[in-house]
Amino acid sequence: MLDKISQTKTQLETELNSISSLIDLDNFRIKFLTRKGIIAELFEELKSISIEIKPHIGKVLNELRTFAQNEFEKKNLEFESVKNKSQKIDLTIPGKKNWTGTKHPLTQTLGEVKRIFSQMGFQIAQGPEIEDDYHNFEALNFPPNHPARDMQDTFFISEKILLRTHTSPVQIRIMEKQSPPIRVIIPGRVYRNEAISSRSYCLFHQVEGLYVDEKVSFSELKGTLVAFVKQFYGSNLKYKFRPSFFPFTEPSAEMDISCFLCNGKGCRVCKFSGWLEILGCGMVHPNIFKNINVDTEKYSGYAFGMGIERIAMLLYGVDDIRLFYENDVRFLKQF
Ligand code: PHE
Repeated sequence: MLDKISQTKTQLETELNSISSLIDLDNFRIKFLTRKGIIAELFEELKSISIEIKPHIGKVLNELRTFAQNEFEKKNLEFESVKNKSQKIDLTIPGKKNWTGTKHPLTQTLGEVKRIFSQMGFQIAQGPEIEDDYHNFEALNFPPNHPARDMQDTFFISEKILLRTHTSPVQIRIMEKQSPPIRVIIPGRVYRNEAISSRSYCLFHQVEGLYVDEKVSFSELKGTLVAFVKQFYGSNLKYKFRPSFFPFTEPSAEMDISCFLCNGKGCRVCKFSGWLEILGCGMVHPNIFKNINVDTEKYSGYAFGMGIERIAMLLYGVDDIRLFYENDVRFLKQF
C-alpha cells in the first residue's frame, strides 16, 4: 500500500510538471482529487487494511492528499495572475475617455471682446477690485451725498473703502499715470449690493473702454460700438442708442440691442420690452479731465462700459444670469 502511495505521488508530480493550460489543470483535478479520483480510491482501499498499520498509512495518504490539493491551488493561482497580467496589457480593450474641460462661457465671451477691440487698436489694462471712494465715485464726478451714488448699491468695506461698483475707476487710475493718447479696454469684476434675480447678481463683469486723444468725437464712439456689436453678434443685429445720464460722461447714452431670446417680442429677461441694454457710454466729462489735470482745450475722449454677462446671455441665449456662477456641469458642458 505504501508503495502504491509513493507511485501515485511520483505520477502526480510528473503530471503536475506537464500542466500547461487550465484544461490540463482541470484534468489533473478530475484524475486525482474528485470523489472517483485516484486518491479517493486509495482511501477506499485503506478501509480494508489491518488495524495496526492503518493509522500510519492513513497519515501518509492524508499527506498525499494535502500535497495534491496545495499543488492544485498553487497552479490555479498562477493561471489567475497570468490572466490578470495579460488583461492589463490587452490593447483591444476600449480606452477610457479623457474629458477635456472648456473655457467658462464668460471667459470665452471676454476673449472675443478683447479680440475685437485689440484689432481696433485698444490695449488691455486692469485695476483693483477693492477701491477707494475717491476713484470709484468722487473723481468720477459723484460728489459726496450726490443722489447718483444710489444708482449703484455699494458694498462698503469701511467708510472710504469699497468693492468697486464698476470698472470706471480704472479710467482715473490710467489717466493719473499716463497722458493721452490713451486707447484701452479694462475688463474686470464688479460688485453690487442688488437683489439677486435672473437679470442681476451681486457680482458680475464689465469691460470699460476709454479713448482720449485730440478731437475725439461722439460719432467715433458710436462708430466703434456699432462696429463692435456687428462683429460680435453679426451684421443683422438691431441696435439703438438712448440718451442717458452718468456723472462722468456728457452727453451720455445707453446702447440697446434687440432681445435675442424672444426676438424682440418681449420676455422676462428683457422685461417685456424687446430690447436689452448692453452698455453705457458717453463723452468724458470735462470735470474728470480737470480732476486729473488733462488739458480740456486740447483733448477730448469717450468712455463706455458694458456688462459681460449681459452680452454673453444674448450671444448664447442664456435666460438666467445665475447659471454662470453655479458651475453646473450640465450647463458648462454646452460651451
Ligand atoms: N460705469 C457705468 C456703469 O457701470 C457704465 C459707463 C462706463 C457709462 C463708461 C459711461 C461710460 O453703469
